[in-house]
Order: sequence, then structure tokens, then C-alpha cells
Amino acid sequence: MAPRSSVRWTKSRAPNRRLWLLLSLPLLALASLHAAAAILRGANALGRRCALAGAEYSATSPPHPRPRIAMVSFSAEENSGGGGGRRSFRGVMDAVGGNKRAYTERMGYDFIDARRLVDPNRPPNWSKILAVRSHLRHYDWLFWNDADTVVTNPDISLESILNVAIGYSGLQASPDLVVTEDFNGVNSGVFFFRRSEWSEKFLDTWWNQTSFVRFGSTLSGDNAAMKHLIDSLPSKELGDHVRVSPMQCLFNSYPWFPTWKNAYRLISSPLTTWRGAYSDGDFMVHLAGLDEKKKWIAKILRELREAGR
Ligand SMILES: *[C@@H]1O[C@H](CO)[C@@H](O)[C@H](O)[C@H]1NC(C)=O
Ligand SMILES: *[C@@H]1O[C@H](CO)[C@@H](O)[C@H](O)[C@H]1NC(C)=O
Repeated sequence: MAPRSSVRWTKSRAPNRRLWLLLSLPLLALASLHAAAAILRGANALGRRCALAGAEYSATSPPHPRPRIAMVSFSAEENSGGGGGRRSFRGVMDAVGGNKRAYTERMGYDFIDARRLVDPNRPPNWSKILAVRSHLRHYDWLFWNDADTVVTNPDISLESILNVAIGYSGLQASPDLVVTEDFNGVNSGVFFFRRSEWSEKFLDTWWNQTSFVRFGSTLSGDNAAMKHLIDSLPSKELGDHVRVSPMQCLFNSYPWFPTWKNAYRLISSPLTTWRGAYSDGDFMVHLAGLDEKKKWIAKILRELREAGR
């Protein structure tokens, strides 16, 4: 037995080399995925600009009077649509609440935890519409962020983000809704609404899109409904009222790490990946679609502490 197989070994050296190569391909792929992760994580150091040319973030010449801004968020603890499980939002707000409160205090904004406004008749994500709608009249701008987001660069002000997204043109001439896009189009996890009649009507119409409501799914339908509304706006209205940041990383970065799904996205939409991948120095990270949110948040907060932020 043994001698025969040793003969085979020597005879088929070339095919074995090929086999070896074949076996090492997945390893090679894995290594490139890790390299890609490192490159994307360092995107800003490599020259990526989340604020496009000429419109750098600046604390200079703040618009007068300073707009009143509130950051609004909640995490549905008790009646979370997904229940417990790995997608659970349980305890997420408690984990990030301090991060957001500290940021708003430092910048002089209000922080609103709207968890009391959750409507139990729909998956909790829908209630962001109610939360924003009910506080809008007290502020110039409301900045909604899903609970699974963390302020990762507290030196960047919301005014400067708006400035980059819309160009400062005076409050009344501003668009009303500022959003970002990811692989799926507009993302409803992080956005700005300006106090205006248009915003109120948009929010009411959004809430009224009951045909999009989905139970028992990780996609509750609020994002699809927002996309549908934006898509159905006449182009003039769209141009006047909605601004989509050309760079997702302006205020809604997603962590990129080596998984097959992320690898597929990197290959199929490299530009979208580049524009949206979380890199050191970005304003906000959003754990969209990720499991184990609390662990992720703990990891990010630890990294920020270590980096002295
Ligand atoms: C939303 O629906 C309610 C109840 O059906 C209705 O009274 C209201 O006018 C609707 N609002 C908008 C903006 O569609
Ligand atoms: C709510 O939104 C978050 C991220 O924005 C998402 O990860 C989560 O799956 C959504 N939950 C539901 C029940 O749709």
C-alpha cells in the first residue's frame, strides 16, 4: 500500500501542485478580503473626502442665528418587532445613549430619547416617523438616528454636515430632507428634517404608507416606504426639497469587515462601498443589518476611548 502511493505521489507532482494552488485560492481570497478591510478602514487617510471638494467641514462663520437642532433616537426595548435574538436592540440605547448625550451637550443641541412614542401597532422602526413629526415644530432641524449608531467623531458639528450636504443658503431656502444612499438606495436609518410644511406633509404621507408595513421580518417596511415616496416625487419637487449626500460617509458610515456578502458588494459596487465604508475620522457609524449590536457598540466605544476621543 505504502510504496504504491508513494509512486503515485512522485508521478503526479505537477497535478498536485495545481491542487495545492487550488486549495490555497480560498486562503488567498481571505487574505485579500482582510487587506480590503484594512484599506477601507483607512480610506480617509488614503485621501477619501466625505465632504466633497471645496465644502470642507468648518466651524468658521457659523450661520446666524444658530439653528436649533435636536438629535432624536430611541431603541424599542420591550415590544421590539424582532423580539430577542441576535438582531435584538435590547439595551442598545442604554449602550449608546451616553455617547450621543455627550455629543449633543458638547455641541449645544438637544437630545431626545423618544422611546415613549413607540406605536405598538407597527414594527418599532416605523415610530421614528412619529418621533420626528412630534418634535419637529420645536426645532429648525431634527437629526434622526437609529439606535444602532454611534458618534465616532464628536468634533464634527451637525451644522457643518448640513453645510456640506446643502451648501449654506439660509434656513428658508434649504431643502427639507437630507439623506444618504447605500447599496439599496436611500437609507432611512439616519436623516435630517427641517421644520417646514413640506416636511410635515412628507412625514404624514410616509406614516400613511400602510401597505409597506411588514411584521416578523428584519425589514419592517419603513425604509421601502421612504424610498417609494422619494422615487415618486416630481423631479422639481425632489430637487427643491430632498438632498442626497454624494458621500454616504458624510454621516452614515457602515462598518466593512470580511464576509462573503461584503466581498460581493465590494466587487459589484466598489464605489458605493468606498463611499460608505466606516473609516477613522468619520462622523457616525451605523450598524445597519448587523447582529450582535451591543457587542459591536462596546467594541467601537472601546476603540474610541483608546484613540482618546
Ligand atoms: C394620512 O391618513 C389620515 C387618516 O387616513 C388622513 O386623515 C390624512 O389626511 C393623511 N395624510 C396625508 C398627508 O396623506
Ligand atoms: C430597524 O432598523 C435597523 C437599522 O436601521 C435594522 O437593522 C433593523 O433590522 C430594523 N428593525 C426592524 C424590525 O425592521
